[in-house]
Amino acid sequence: MNKVDIADLFKKISQLDQTLSLDGVGIDLLQKKYLTSEKYNDKKFYRNMYMGRISLFNDHFSPYVGKGNIINALSEINFDERFRAKFGGVLPEIHYLALNEIIEKWSDNEEVMSITDLHIRNTPIENLFNLDQLSKHNLYLECPSEVGSLEMMTILISTQFNVTESHCDDSDGSNHCLVGKKLWLCWDTLEGLKNGIEDIERLDIDRQCHFDLATFVTLKSSSWFFVGEGDTLFLPGNLSHKVITLEKYIGIGSFYISLLNFLRTLSWWKLHKPNWELNEPPDINKHNYDQLQSTISSISFDNNPDNYIAKSLKNSIDYWHEEFSSKDRSLLLSEPMFNHCYQCLLALANNRH
Ligand SMILES: [Fe+2]
Repeated sequence: MNKVDIADLFKKISQLDQTLSLDGVGIDLLQKKYLTSEKYNDKKFYRNMYMGRISLFNDHFSPYVGKGNIINALSEINFDERFRAKFGGVLPEIHYLALNEIIEKWSDNEEVMSITDLHIRNTPIENLFNLDQLSKHNLYLECPSEVGSLEMMTILISTQFNVTESHCDDSDGSNHCLVGKKLWLCWDTLEGLKNGIEDIERLDIDRQCHFDLATFVTLKSSSWFFVGEGDTLFLPGNLSHKVITLEKYIGIGSFYISLLNFLRTLSWWKLHKPNWELNEPPDINKHNYDQLQSTISSISFDNNPDNYIAKSLKNSIDYWHEEFSSKDRSLLLSEPMFNHCYQCLLALANNRH
């Protein structure tokens, strides 16, 4: 993307959100942080998954399998439930709308609106998508109750100029764009916090999170990119993000944990606490970890025809050893549940090589 287009884009969006102002920001630095989408590649995808890097593919499969266009298909669904919709900017108003009302408002595109809680599992909407393919490697589906619900297969709907406050999610996530276009700005949550870039999930604040582009471009972990029609984004859970809808958007997203990001995700939770534990006593969600442990223990390659894991699992464990300090590894492995999962993964990897 050239510097003139970058300057025009940020001038325009800073009118929606002043924290995106270009004041004091070198366009050169911002340009270097721009990430382009690429063609899908198994090897790269799995490597990014265990290394905790962003994957942005422009030709990953399309999960929509409904007839005709998605807008018509959604508006034809008779579904007696109301969904939480946010209207407005930084301190949005909340209203509860039926699906047909959401689609009507989305089509009008006159109000800034965002819906992120439209969960589709076990609803008539799920038939419009190839959920098996979307969740191919997702261990959450093999876990019972609380952990399984962390998958959150959701339709994401927003109108133009919606801005999502800076936040991180507990797990790696996938986002496939069916219609429209969003601008994403991402950075490592801890690196951001250390440098004054705030995150609504990690801080107890009731005002807009501090963010400034001048600091953003200096972060080692920062990047920005577009997610448009047909693009699929896989975002590691340790990356905070601020997202602006440039063209009214419909997409599908979910969270996932696989054998390849298991050690990285669980290490992050153990060392820094997942968001859900921040205001809770430390052992309140012990059953979540227990469920993951029993799921990992029961995995066998015999039941897993896709051998991507076999090729990459050993590398993912080696990478975990490189990435985490010996102090952190000792701390993590001293915890019986973590150690048990680690031994299960190692046995799976070694049996295959
Ligand atoms: Fe998010």
